[in-house]
Amino acid sequence: MDHEIIQPPTEQPHPPRRVFFRWLTSAAGAVAAALVSVPFVGYLFQQRKQSVHWVALGKVAEFPFGETRTVAFDNPLRQPWDGVTAHTGVFVRREGPGEGAVDRFLVFAVNCAHLGCPVSWFPQSGLFMCPCHGGVYYANGQRASGPPPRGLFHCEWRVVDGNLEVQAPHYPTLHDTLDQTT
Ligand code: FES
Repeated sequence: MDHEIIQPPTEQPHPPRRVFFRWLTSAAGAVAAALVSVPFVGYLFQQRKQSVHWVALGKVAEFPFGETRTVAFDNPLRQPWDGVTAHTGVFVRREGPGEGAVDRFLVFAVNCAHLGCPVSWFPQSGLFMCPCHGGVYYANGQRASGPPPRGLFHCEWRVVDGNLEVQAPHYPTLHDTLDQTT
């Protein structure tokens, strides 16, 4: 009786062409994914770049100690649909020399911390008042009375070559404040 000898299956090497196409497919997929993500990454970088704009407010010497001045400017963070609301401003109060005899300022957004109406400064009473629902703030920006849940929003500022500059403020909300400290 004949016995058939069964040989163990020999391992077939992958045909080189199949391996090549597999690599080619993977490489093409990676390149396509990179190309698709380029606009998105560019958008993120653009957003980050756009988020910091410094606006010159004037010479430090133009702001008398202990007085609050309103400085208006066109917000460089404006969008085409912002209209007149892009013409905004800040309240600047020169507090005097701080540490190292460096001038210290309080710079507030004009928007009320309740629903964003522009508040007005009344030097006679030393108060900021909101015309919409009667919100009132002290000269240091803290809430005095009315519906606002907090004080005025602080803006980032700096002095460069004797000029006061403020970081262009986006429209502040309670969830996205200009400064978390107040
Ligand atoms: S918006 Fe200012 S009190 Fe309401």
